[in-house]
Amino acid sequence: MILILKPTLACNISCKYCYLSAESKTSNKFDVKFAKSVLQQVKDILAPNKKRRLKILWHGGEPLLWGIKNYTEIFAYIEKEFERYNYSISIQTNLSLINEDFIDLFLKYKVSVGCSLDGPKEIHDTQRVTRKGEGTFDLIMEKVELCREKGLKLGCIVVGTKKHIGKIPLLYKFMCDNNIGFKFNPIFNAGEAKKNIDNYGLTLDEYATMAIELFDLWFYDNKNKINNSVFADIASGLISKKTSHCLFDKNCQDNILAIAPNGDVVPCGRFCDDGLKQYAYGNLHTENLNSILKKIKISDIYNRYKCIEESSCSKCEFFAICNGGCLYDGFAKTGDFKSKTFLCSAYKKIYSHISNRLKEEKLL
Ligand SMILES: C[S@@+](CC[C@H](N)C(=O)[O-])C[C@H]1O[C@@H](n2cnc3c(N)ncnc32)[C@H](O)[C@@H]1O
Ligand code: SF4
Ligand code: SF4
Repeated sequence: MILILKPTLACNISCKYCYLSAESKTSNKFDVKFAKSVLQQVKDILAPNKKRRLKILWHGGEPLLWGIKNYTEIFAYIEKEFERYNYSISIQTNLSLINEDFIDLFLKYKVSVGCSLDGPKEIHDTQRVTRKGEGTFDLIMEKVELCREKGLKLGCIVVGTKKHIGKIPLLYKFMCDNNIGFKFNPIFNAGEAKKNIDNYGLTLDEYATMAIELFDLWFYDNKNKINNSVFADIASGLISKKTSHCLFDKNCQDNILAIAPNGDVVPCGRFCDDGLKQYAYGNLHTENLNSILKKIKISDIYNRYKCIEESSCSKCEFFAICNGGCLYDGFAKTGDFKSKTFLCSAYKKIYSHISNRLKEEKLL
């Protein structure tokens, strides 16, 4: 189970493509007492099967704004309460607020830290900017260095946009030179991104071409050993016919619980924006998790996978590893939860390409 906790949607910077709207990024946050009560309810649900994996992911907004005091208290609580459980903790942060105290805490509790960095300065600074529009590259690289000095390993998300076109080798070299494993996620059109989509948006062909170029650089690179979890997942999925990434889950709603700052339980982290409030399953300030879980099982969202199984996807050669793609990516384009991902045509090209490369190498 992946428990996504979003203590706040507020953020100290202002990325041009952020999928959260400026109006959603209020200073509302849940407190430690609430976080403990959510964790306690999750613990009760997992009690009959303590071996089931639990990934606790702190997210936002900018999750470091929740403050060192709250994290110190909640990590100690998790360590004590989940002692016999199969859990891991991770956090996805813009890294701008990290300091030695946070790093020591993350090391102490073995927290996996994912950051956001869009490549070299000439790309990153066009899109990840402060409220005044200034690039954040120099600050983030200072923090990357601090983490390295203290022995904290980082993973990374790169949001692929128009600014990466023609610059994939540069991006790959930059990540290798800095020894940072990364995922290359295409921009989607939501929140603040809607205002800036003409300057940052990608066509499906542009995304597929860049992803394929990146895959080849990664696949044939015998020197650098940086991780790319999406490519690795697709490749191992093609071999084993099983995937582990939520994007390709048969029914992600069996595995994800996402909690918004106001206590809403939402289908996933992408559904926290104010404009999507009506899709919340329930609110943990007024209902308990068990009763919300019952509502989830009978919802249209939960039943999406049945529609996908009966759709044209079922005849697709990549169905076993794609399952219609991400729930949000289908819904965002059509407003209908039954839809397959809008990235379908790009995915088909990427899957075919990876499959051919695996065959050439006699891995498939
Ligand atoms: C919403 S942020 C929250 C965590 C933290 N503030 C950060 O930036 O890492 C989570 C991830 O979503 C990515 N992201 C934001 N808007 C996006 C969009 N429109 N399309 C694709 N990814 C996006 C961010 O770059 C970041 O890697
Ligand atoms: S992507 Fe993350 S850092 Fe950038 S504005 Fe959104 S929440 Fe803040
Ligand atoms: S590649 Fe397209 S058709 Fe095939 S399973 Fe994925 S979304 Fe469906």
